[in-house]
Amino acid sequence: MIKKEKGKKRIANEINEDPGAVFYNPVQEFNRDISIAVIREHIKVTNEERAAKGKEERDITILEALAATGLRSVRYMKEIDKVEKIVCNDWDPVAVELMNKNLEHNGVPAEKYETFAQDAVHLMNKMRADKRLFDVIDLDPYGTAIPFLESAIGALRNGGLLAVTFTDMAVLCARRPHVCAYKYGSAPLPNRYCHEFALRMVLNMINQMANRHGRIIEPVLSLTVDFYLRLFIRVRESPIRCHRSILKSSHVYQCQDCESHWFQPMGREVPYQPKSQRDLGKKYKSQGKKRDNKASKDDNDEAQEETNQIEEVNDKDEEAKQGEATEQTRITQARVAVPSKCKVCDGILVIGGPIWN
Ligand SMILES: C[S@@+](CC[C@H](N)C(=O)[O-])C[C@H]1O[C@@H](n2cnc3c(N)ncnc32)[C@H](O)[C@@H]1O
Ligand SMILES: [Zn+2]
Repeated sequence: MIKKEKGKKRIANEINEDPGAVFYNPVQEFNRDISIAVIREHIKVTNEERAAKGKEERDITILEALAATGLRSVRYMKEIDKVEKIVCNDWDPVAVELMNKNLEHNGVPAEKYETFAQDAVHLMNKMRADKRLFDVIDLDPYGTAIPFLESAIGALRNGGLLAVTFTDMAVLCARRPHVCAYKYGSAPLPNRYCHEFALRMVLNMINQMANRHGRIIEPVLSLTVDFYLRLFIRVRESPIRCHRSILKSSHVYQCQDCESHWFQPMGREVPYQPKSQRDLGKKYKSQGKKRDNKASKDDNDEAQEETNQIEEVNDKDEEAKQGEATEQTRITQARVAVPSKCKVCDGILVIGGPIWN
């Protein structure tokens, strides 16, 4: 239950005849406090966005997919205004029994919540299939949130907020890059900034997942706290902005002997020159170059690639009209931008990432 004692901060507790039977961790109080603050801000910002488009304000929906005792959900309902409904889920039926008791005991009106005892992935996929999308999805698992992310991304409304915790710091900050690489698709660098590096690896991975749904991420707040990561990320529909993800991804070359490091981006954006392809054709003609079939096939491939890029720029024009892009550029591979040895101490460089840069 949550009680407000006179002149004191709210204290959170559970109604549980068998304490400890269901997950409840008081140390996570900060996690819940900050989540409440960010969701409140999200409601404010999204309503401002709606107002700018001439739309009316509206209340939001929240899904807590791994809710345990429902304590977090109770706090969301008691401490955040403008929540139309919260859906709380845990696959443990004992937890769901407790969350029902906690919600009721704390006076959350019955029409304002729904509880489920399902696998979170199944529930989120079902919600998406039923076109029941949420403004906020909270994932607070034990360990990694990877198994739940893709379904959560799919079940969020356009512009919705994903609030997600990772507690597997041993993987994300460890000296065993191969474990993190197979789980997160990225190699950690075990040094003083490993916690920030972990956040950036996670952001890179979530963005890639979102891109597969034609969506992109906008990190709102990314925290490393005690033994865990907590991230708040807006997810937006934008197949066009997915093209720019390559510009947000970098490897990091870290010196083994000192703290120097260099970023190697995956892509770069260069000014768009629409005449270059025609000029290239003229050059070949005037020089009378004879190319064999293989070479001409390569040229065709290159031309096709250029055409794709031009189409991409045209797409971008469309988006520019909607105020998303400002100038005509094209996106291409980055040039190698790192030294072969540490420029400061001549030490050997090791590669980490890719990370969100
Ligand atoms: C860390 S606890 C959640 C704590 C809660 N969010 C809070 O703030 O108190 C993780 C919960 O996820 C549940 N869980 C784990 N895997 C699940 C799955 N695939 N589907 C649904 N619930 C799951 C566990 O039963 C556990 O109660
Ligand atoms: Zn060095």
